[in-house]
Amino acid sequence: MIDPAPPDDPASLEISEDEMRRLARLTVDRLLEHLRAVPRAPAAGTGADEAYCRSLVEGAPETGQALEPLLDAYLDEWVPRTLTTNGPGYMAYVPGGGLFSAALADLVSDLTNRFTGARFASPPLVELEANTLRWFCDWMGMPDGARGIFTSGGSMANFNAVLCARERALGADIRSGVLYTSTQAHHSVAKSARLAGVMPDRVRALPVDARFRLDPSALPAAIAEDRSRGLRPFMVVTSAGTTNTGAVDPFDAVADVAAREGLWHHIDGAYGAFFHACPELRPLLAGLPRADSITLDPHKGLFLPYGTGALLVRDGRALREVHGAGADYMPDQSSGDVYDPCQMSPELSRGYPGLRVWLTFKLFGAARLRAALAEKRALAVAAADALSRDPHVVMAAPPELSLFAFHVTWPGASVRDEDAATRAVLDHVAARGRVHLSGCQAGGRYLVRVCVLSFRSRRSHVDACVEDVLEAVRASVASRS
Ligand SMILES: Cc1ncc(COP(=O)(O)O)c(C=O)c1O
Repeated sequence: MIDPAPPDDPASLEISEDEMRRLARLTVDRLLEHLRAVPRAPAAGTGADEAYCRSLVEGAPETGQALEPLLDAYLDEWVPRTLTTNGPGYMAYVPGGGLFSAALADLVSDLTNRFTGARFASPPLVELEANTLRWFCDWMGMPDGARGIFTSGGSMANFNAVLCARERALGADIRSGVLYTSTQAHHSVAKSARLAGVMPDRVRALPVDARFRLDPSALPAAIAEDRSRGLRPFMVVTSAGTTNTGAVDPFDAVADVAAREGLWHHIDGAYGAFFHACPELRPLLAGLPRADSITLDPHKGLFLPYGTGALLVRDGRALREVHGAGADYMPDQSSGDVYDPCQMSPELSRGYPGLRVWLTFKLFGAARLRAALAEKRALAVAAADALSRDPHVVMAAPPELSLFAFHVTWPGASVRDEDAATRAVLDHVAARGRVHLSGCQAGGRYLVRVCVLSFRSRRSHVDACVEDVLEAVRASVASRS
């Protein structure tokens, strides 16, 4: 039960300072206990079936109750039944982060609760957010006229990129527009197109090469074919690290075609674009700064908690062209050039994502964030090297950034046998509990993928991953060959 202040006022939602301090201490103490236990928690969590989830259905409580049992239930009963996404052994899908600095920022922004959706309401706070977007633009090598927006994640950033490109190129005639991407693009690209009114029959998934990178030679032919049918090619979406295998598309070659053909080139860098922050890794993402827009996911490559995505647009005016809107009840104080979130993105009221980024940069410094990123790549490269030495491991996609994918093999095995054995590796590794990996279907076979991106994944955890995978590969092959 929270003690209201004053205690005899049933309509008051205020809490005394002492009570706030008690609740905050209690919460922080319990969270620190949770964080201490995270490295030992089963990497895949213990899971929860539907019956268990249904048992949680309840009506809204009419009266308040104590915080302690709620935190106990949340941290001891429910969180352990979920994937341990904040753990060092989480190398499945694309790991998220959860830096403490971002949690502090959320506490600060939630309690000060300033309105940062419109510049006029909180000019200095909006400017802090603009700073963080400029830092991102610098890291990505974007020019002065570039602008950015925060989104809830990579999917919404991709969606906003399609909106910008569509508005510029197609105006009201959306139906004739055609968008090109690769068979390996994240499914949010096709979804974004549909949400933006570009239907599936106007989205072309172009073939990829043996390393799962978009084949740029297929692009001009596809564009010519669509033009000959009276359609209007308007956008090409490439990936700075595909979700399946971490492939980085050939940006320069695509940018050349896009420039020649007048297409908007968007790079979905939700997984991998932040590696461009590290000067020594830039050659891996050559041509990225030429993009018309780039999706970033700070809740992946900047190690922040879920709910922080971003879109950078080379010609920042494009954001206003699609999102600019006036209202009779609001002052119009922003000139065309300054950062004003509600004029550049779909939302008006929203949280304050910029503070998560700002406080993180301020407390850690950019150099430390870059060092963490570079370390994740080095760990992935070392792990892939170690696994490749096993004769039963075929490295189907060596790491370009910090993600690689492999399958199991042995003499005389069919693809079907190998698929089954490769899937079995996942189960074996999961049963050991130290590491959680995921798989994908790519190039006509099943692959296990290892993605090193959690800030908590250090050398010892990646060594444990290699150990567990090798043990699993040997067991899987021995039971079949
Ligand atoms: C390459 C890529 N694009 C887009 C997304 C979607 O990002 P979000 O989950 O933040 O919406 C992901 C998610 O893993 C991704 O890997």
